[in-house]
Amino acid sequence: MAKSKTVFVCSECGYESSKWLGKCPACNSWNSFYEQKVVETKSKGISQSDGKVAIPQSLNSYEAKETIRTHTGFNELDRVLGGGLVKGSLVLLGGEPGIGKSTLILQICDKIKGDGKVLYVSGEESAEQIKLRADRLGINNEDILFLGETNIELVNQAILNVNPKLVIIDSIQTMYSEEITAAAGSVSQVREITSQVMRVCKSKGITTIIIGHVTKEGNIAGPRVLEHMVDTVLYLEGERYFSYRILRGVKNRFGSTNEIGMFEMQDKGMCEIDNPSDILISEREDNPSGSCIVATMEGTRPLLVELQALTTQTIFGYPRRTANGIDYNRLTLLIAVLEKKAGLMLNSQDVYLNVVGGLKVNEPAADLGIMMVTASSFKNIPIPKDMIILGEVGLTGEVRRINMIEKRVKEAEKLGFKTCLIPESNKKDLKDNYKLDIIGIKDVNEAMKKIGLK
Ligand code: TYD
Ligand code: MG
Repeated sequence: MAKSKTVFVCSECGYESSKWLGKCPACNSWNSFYEQKVVETKSKGISQSDGKVAIPQSLNSYEAKETIRTHTGFNELDRVLGGGLVKGSLVLLGGEPGIGKSTLILQICDKIKGDGKVLYVSGEESAEQIKLRADRLGINNEDILFLGETNIELVNQAILNVNPKLVIIDSIQTMYSEEITAAAGSVSQVREITSQVMRVCKSKGITTIIIGHVTKEGNIAGPRVLEHMVDTVLYLEGERYFSYRILRGVKNRFGSTNEIGMFEMQDKGMCEIDNPSDILISEREDNPSGSCIVATMEGTRPLLVELQALTTQTIFGYPRRTANGIDYNRLTLLIAVLEKKAGLMLNSQDVYLNVVGGLKVNEPAADLGIMMVTASSFKNIPIPKDMIILGEVGLTGEVRRINMIEKRVKEAEKLGFKTCLIPESNKKDLKDNYKLDIIGIKDVNEAMKKIGLK
């Protein structure tokens, strides 16, 4: 006979305990334990279930089935997925509320190729709200079915009845299962719902996209509880008040996770950007001081972005440093190197640094660019408009080698740049003849002299 008992589970991280605890020993959150029923079966140790025996076979005796991929209608998304949406796969799309997940998905529902219906299950918005959005996006598609339901058992029933080609669950946090007493959105609910949907859809070969909101720490309802269950995890990122969105692959069983897709949120929904570098640097003014272009890598894709700096006289005693889009500590470190090694007196200057377009640049390859743009604003001398600056800077002011130099230089060449400052040690990595001037740089002072800042 199966015996039923209860355990206490942390709703933040899924830690289990036999008694209630005020503070979770695993994730340190307070008051997060709730009671949950478990069904225990009598263990017989190593047993044969119903007389069946599992027999392992040589891997070579199996044949790999070719994955069937469907085009989503967005090339950017197809690339992130590794060439299209794999039939029968389970995709998790995460992102902050309001970033544009529902909008992007509704557009995919309309554009996706292949026969069959699309089932859009929403626990967040009513049919009227979705219709309003569809009208705004110019979507009028008979094949999109809507279900406003939060009970996952009913949703699964509907999936079996309709047998669609694609199911959307918007969002996982609003769904609940009757089998679990915990509140909707808790770790155990989210886990249970995902495994239920997965069972139904995998058995029928139905492709599923689950939308999940991320918490302020950047996790989808507790640390990574879902990521190991699904085939693909995508995050939609971007600053809410900027129109650019980056779709990033975090996990992909059917492709690489290095790819990103760029979109722009417009008044008619999400539009893909084929050549992001072109757009990101298009609004640059003619030769202002305190502006320069660096090439960062987003996965395997080079992206040219504009850095801007402003230095002003400090009014109060303590100089301010503001970093928007780059790491604050990195900025203070690079300013310290500029002071000590290049002799710039920035200790009575406020320094503001911004990455244009709301992007984040976390790569050390942008170090030299950050320093030069700061020096350019301080000295009020512009950096040539057709110059691109690459290089990591060490604490002694030396310019260090960066990775994937060839891709970065090629992107700069493609967009018509004329000069490229790169680390001297990277020069040997470049074999081809480029149309732009490549100047090898050994340290910060040399870079300043070449630009005319010294
Ligand atoms: P939404 O897709 O609802 O975000 P999420 O599902 O991630 O919470 O997007 C909401 C925002 O997008 C909202 O602030 C309005 C804006 N938006 C546009 O700018 N253009 C559009 O065409 C649509 C439909 C929404
Ligand atoms: Mg939404």
